[in-house]
Amino acid sequence: MILSACLLSKYLLKYRLKCPRKITTSPAKEERMPKLGYGIIGCGRIFPFHARAVRKLPEVELVAVSDIVEERARKGAQMFGAKAWYTDYRKLLDRKDIHLVSICLPHHLHAKASIDAAMRGKHVLCEKPIAINEEEARRMIDECRRRKVKLAIISQNRYNDASQKLYKAFQEGRFGRLVLGCADVKNHKDQSYYDRDEWRGRWATEGGGSLTTQAYHIIDLLRWIMGPVRSVCAHMATLTHDIEVEDTATATLEFENGALGEISSTNSSPIGFSTRLEIHGENGSAIIQDNRIVYWDFPGIPEAEKVLEAHLQIGSIPNRGYGESHPRQIKEFVRDVLEDREPLINGEEALKTSRLIWAIYSSAKSGRKVYLTKGGGDA
Ligand SMILES: NC(=O)c1ccc[n+]([C@@H]2O[C@H](COP(=O)([O-])OP(=O)(O)OC[C@H]3O[C@@H](n4cnc5c(N)ncnc54)[C@H](O)[C@@H]3O)[C@@H](O)[C@H]2O)c1
Repeated sequence: MILSACLLSKYLLKYRLKCPRKITTSPAKEERMPKLGYGIIGCGRIFPFHARAVRKLPEVELVAVSDIVEERARKGAQMFGAKAWYTDYRKLLDRKDIHLVSICLPHHLHAKASIDAAMRGKHVLCEKPIAINEEEARRMIDECRRRKVKLAIISQNRYNDASQKLYKAFQEGRFGRLVLGCADVKNHKDQSYYDRDEWRGRWATEGGGSLTTQAYHIIDLLRWIMGPVRSVCAHMATLTHDIEVEDTATATLEFENGALGEISSTNSSPIGFSTRLEIHGENGSAIIQDNRIVYWDFPGIPEAEKVLEAHLQIGSIPNRGYGESHPRQIKEFVRDVLEDREPLINGEEALKTSRLIWAIYSSAKSGRKVYLTKGGGDA
């Protein structure tokens, strides 16, 4: 059953959860609060990032997990103290004591599982990308809206310290007119990565390759800061893997604000995993490399501070992998549910990033420049 708006507002009223800070101020109150139940569907590589984050939140309890591979479901439940595990995720969704779910499944199952969850009144936090095509993404968004449940899509890198600092500089107008934005991913995946999991490497199940799976976050950050894209011209290739999808791609972009941009991504380099985001404006430039600010130059900063800021290793760990920010987004999702707020990275917002990636595929396949609808796919 839905944790309906009515039930939620009773919960909020009873425990006075309108102000976010009140949730954690009093440990005594925390103990008295009934926890919302949380379920996680899919116990693969990304699962521990969700399970660990959920376990740390006082407002929720990890009730159950699910994976079609029995051992993964059982181990996942054991490792993170869930009461139950299932190989059929519908059993998890049928539980009345689960109110929120994370979907950590292969891309082609995001829409189906999210819709199944929404139909049972569960709030949905789905891993990126939202879905493998526009039609499935729309159905997800519409069903969640119809059932009055929240839908948020993971884009944890927006919550990194370095990304937040850069976004703040943009919001304060420190770049001046934006002129150039570049997003770059160098990564190594050998053939065994694709052979190990049947869903990878195929259009029908992964929905794309290096751009969709590895470069998604950096493309999302580029679009978030530079704004909607007007058009793309792209190339893609499958150079070192026996797969259907691209392992290497490049694209040049025109943004609606007149700035230009480029995206490059490969899974065929010897470099383990390295990402770089460059934002250049007429007044300032900033570069994030592997989630850390490595270049920071704006007018009005005294020379010493400029040097200091340039070397500010924002983002404590030079993490090259999934980053450290899942807990931040998952915490915000729980707050969105408790306070009945629309998630910042809702279905529509995530769809814009996927539309940009799909436009790149379309341009690369047709050999033509592809125009996105006004608003960067905000049709
Ligand atoms: N945000 C990030 O930085 C990040 C990083 C890695 C992966 N991801 C995303 O997380 C999602 C999962 O990726 P992954 O790397 O964990 O994949 P994975 O293949 O390691 O895990 C997927 C799991 O889902 C299970 N599964 C498949 N069908 C199922 C079903 N019907 N019911 C229940 N379980 C089922 C599989 O057995 C597997 O254990 C993808 O969307 C991926 O893009 C995001």
